[in-house]
Amino acid sequence: MAMTDDATYFKTLLDYYEAEVIGEAYFRGLAAHSDGPAEHDKFVLLAAVERHAAAATRPIVDRHGLKPRSEAELFEIGKSHIARHQDHSWMEFVDYMLDRYPAYVDMFETLERMAPDADLPALKFLTRHEVDVIEFANREKAGDPDSLAPIHEYLAYDAFTSGSS
Ligand SMILES: [Fe+2]
Repeated sequence: MAMTDDATYFKTLLDYYEAEVIGEAYFRGLAAHSDGPAEHDKFVLLAAVERHAAAATRPIVDRHGLKPRSEAELFEIGKSHIARHQDHSWMEFVDYMLDRYPAYVDMFETLERMAPDADLPALKFLTRHEVDVIEFANREKAGDPDSLAPIHEYLAYDAFTSGSS
């Protein structure tokens, strides 16, 4: 814990953890508004990635004694965000991801720099989910038929989440 006080780190960690739970409900909601079955399944996988990232982060949230809001409460917030993007076509949504998500990688890397060493493996896995989603979006943009490979690889890696996802 070098540059930042504990309180800032804990608040940011809790915010980012909660954002993943919110994101799960958001992507599941977008699945219901998708362009077709393939896009539906991609949104469902994006929801699963959010859940996987949250599950990896939860043990350090708990270890620091932080108290996230209930899943039900966070899911309600996620649902309230669906309307912003439910009318996007799939490719509009891909462009949105490519435009906006790199900033999230920067935020997660900033969180890593605030963290004690013991938290880094889980936090690096949290950061990686965003990197892999951006890689997926780049592949979608390029029309790569194997666009989901980074998503499946992320979901297959369960060192942080065995038994909890
Ligand atoms: Fe996320």
